[in-house]
Amino acid sequence: MTGKDERMTQELWDAVDGYYSGLLVGEDEALDAALEASDAAGLPQIAVSPNQGKLLNLLARTRGARRILEVGTLGGYSTIWLARALPADGQLITLEYEQRHAEVARANLDRAGLADRTEVRVGAALETLPTLDGPFDLVFIDADKPNNPAYFRHALRLTRPGSVIIVDNVVRGGRVADPDATDPAVVGTRELADLLATEPTVDASMIQTVGAKGYDGFAYALVTS
Ligand code: SAH
Ligand code: DHB
Ligand code: MG
Repeated sequence: MTGKDERMTQELWDAVDGYYSGLLVGEDEALDAALEASDAAGLPQIAVSPNQGKLLNLLARTRGARRILEVGTLGGYSTIWLARALPADGQLITLEYEQRHAEVARANLDRAGLADRTEVRVGAALETLPTLDGPFDLVFIDADKPNNPAYFRHALRLTRPGSVIIVDNVVRGGRVADPDATDPAVVGTRELADLLATEPTVDASMIQTVGAKGYDGFAYALVTS
């Protein structure tokens, strides 16, 4: 595609994303404020889109999730969507490397009225994951992509049959399909794909997405045994 075609394509994806989020998400004081505060603090604009956030919320509710684990908090936008799926006595733990991101996220969760059921743990997830005890009903992996295989192995340890493991950014513009890729993010995601294919205790699929976040995708794994 030429640069012009790519721009027109992204404009169309944005228009459709906005059409549906206008209908199905609408304005939301806590979520809108979370994005504003994240922007004001200079956080990167890489949160899930409104439609993706709502999908995560619906998946967690479909699962009846009472305990949720997230790897990669940023400003807590996806965290708010997931935590809203919990019952009042539910619990969400979210792991974040950057102290600054965690502080923004805690303020956003507080403003959303979710401080009582959410906990932001600061540190490299490879250090904090081993300190956690399961089982979690849903795990959302959305941090540094080279560590996706390690995060997925921890997710297996921390779940039980019926749990769901969702991984963001498994397509990244299509680069994942390149067997000669050397980018550590792509290599990590391809190793994750091998795990999804070979781990006998999960059954998995992948959905490609286009929209406000460009061309990407989610992996969805059901823990079967
Ligand atoms: N889930 C968020 C977006 C997360 S962006 C949302 O959709 O709203 C990825 C986050 O992972 C960033 O905040 C980044 O600081 C964090 N991160 C990167 N490396 C990490 C690591 N080793 N351990 C924990 N978090 C990490
Ligand atoms: C990036 C990270 C993400 O989790 C995402 O959803 C989009 C982009 C990034 O690091 O560029
Ligand atoms: Mg992501």
